[in-house]
Amino acid sequence: MTRIICIASGKGGVGKTTLVANLTAALAQFNRSVVAVDGNTTTSNLGIHFGIPLYPVTLQDVMRKKASLRRAIYHHPAGFRIIPADVSLRKLMLPDTDAFMDVLYRFVGDADFVLIDSAAGLGKEAKVALESADEVLTVTNPDMPSLTDAVKITKVASRYETRNLGVIVNRVRGEKHEVSLDGIERFMKLPVVGRVPEDRHVRAAIASRQPVVLYNPYSPAARNIMAIAAWLAGEDYAAKTGLLERLGRLLGRPG
Ligand SMILES: Nc1ncnc2c1ncn2[C@@H]1O[C@H](COP(=O)(O)OP(=O)(O)O)[C@@H](O)[C@H]1O
Ligand SMILES: [Mg+2]
Repeated sequence: MTRIICIASGKGGVGKTTLVANLTAALAQFNRSVVAVDGNTTTSNLGIHFGIPLYPVTLQDVMRKKASLRRAIYHHPAGFRIIPADVSLRKLMLPDTDAFMDVLYRFVGDADFVLIDSAAGLGKEAKVALESADEVLTVTNPDMPSLTDAVKITKVASRYETRNLGVIVNRVRGEKHEVSLDGIERFMKLPVVGRVPEDRHVRAAIASRQPVVLYNPYSPAARNIMAIAAWLAGEDYAAKTGLLERLGRLLGRPG
């Protein structure tokens, strides 16, 4: 069964694109067939996370029927597919639900997961992504501004009958003023299904044009994202401690 999951947030900059890039790569590590679609067609940057900022054929071309879907699919060497959106102003366009769904449904039966990188908020683009998906993961940071906006996403998702899978809390620093995971669950009325720490390796990975799960699989963020992917895929995965892992590597065992 193909699962079409939108990664959404109310507030911008909370980590949606980073999570889409990494969950895609992580699910591929669990041998799942995954397609990442850039549903953020006005301020797209999913391609940048994979080092393909100027892919010649994009989602916009497919939605405008100027190119076949096949030509817009980038096959990443790590074993997953990406449909980038155009980064230039020239091809600026708001997606239309039917055209967008057309693209998504071409992968039904062909991929295990289709992950949609959504625009923030509840503008047209974000609504199209939310409506077109079957399920949604809402991303937030552990602070009130992003939580307040995140709740709206979950309510609109319910209206569209898109199933709320839960909340991913990103950039957790463990500081006293942060909203606790319990507090987030109470506020959102949804389970926290993933927690990703603030981790400088994430920024280093983006600069190196690779998802952190590939660039530095032993980093705290990578291990936590692998755990979220394992949960999605129904795989057993224990985010190992740094020490055990280092010992394992010394003994020549894979991490
Ligand atoms: N867990 C993290 N640790 C450190 N930096 C992060 C983390 N997640 C995201 N970032 C930083 O935040 C920036 C914005 O993230 P992005 O994924 O583009 O957010 P969104 O797609 O929600 O707008 C990234 O470019 C990266 O520098
Ligand atoms: Mg983004």
